[in-house]
Amino acid sequence: MNQTDYWQKVHLKYSQQDWSKQPNIFATDAVTYFPKTGKILDLAAGLGQDSKYFSSLGYNVTTTDLISPSQVVDLNNPLPFSNNSFDIVYSHLGLHYFSQDRTKQLFEEIYNTLKVGGVFCSIFNLVTDPEIPELTKIDTDYYQTAEGINKRFFSPESLKQMLPKEFKILLLDNNGKTIKDGDGRLVRLVCQK
Ligand SMILES: C[S@@+](CC[C@H](N)C(=O)[O-])C[C@H]1O[C@@H](n2cnc3c(N)ncnc32)[C@H](O)[C@@H]1O
Repeated sequence: MNQTDYWQKVHLKYSQQDWSKQPNIFATDAVTYFPKTGKILDLAAGLGQDSKYFSSLGYNVTTTDLISPSQVVDLNNPLPFSNNSFDIVYSHLGLHYFSQDRTKQLFEEIYNTLKVGGVFCSIFNLVTDPEIPELTKIDTDYYQTAEGINKRFFSPESLKQMLPKEFKILLLDNNGKTIKDGDGRLVRLVCQK
């Protein structure tokens, strides 16, 4: 199955779940770090529930994903946005699917896309995720699922090493949660340009 078909099926499955109709827990954490107004870029937004929440708060949101009806942005390719153009870049469990080189490059592009003083907020699956024993290892912290999807897992330390050094870290811990996964712990990141 190719990646687009796989994610289309996942989106259909998610759309039938009640949790997909409300903002994620991390979205409500992240807004406390946002400037009061401004432009948000939501990467790998899925069904867009966090984008809708941010819009309801008055932000100007660009919602992107590999799958439409979001603006289609494949994060394997360079971000198609001008430098210094967003106040906030946000991604909820969306930056997992790339090699170490592409992930570092993507973080660099996110940095460039932000205005000075802008914030990057994202949440990630942890290196101790219970899903890992079912996966095939490709590289350090990088695995392939049975469906052929490559997936990277993070720790606060590995994430810090991959980020551009110019970012000022405001929050980096493993206390993140989702409604979907209950008590499972996730890495939360908020950093500022
Ligand atoms: C775990 S889901 C998270 C979706 C949403 N942010 C949420 O938390 O509900 C991962 C998302 O990444 C998107 N995705 C996967 N590969 C991608 C790629 N190469 N470029 C952009 N988005 C991608 C999928 O379509 C999916 O919506």
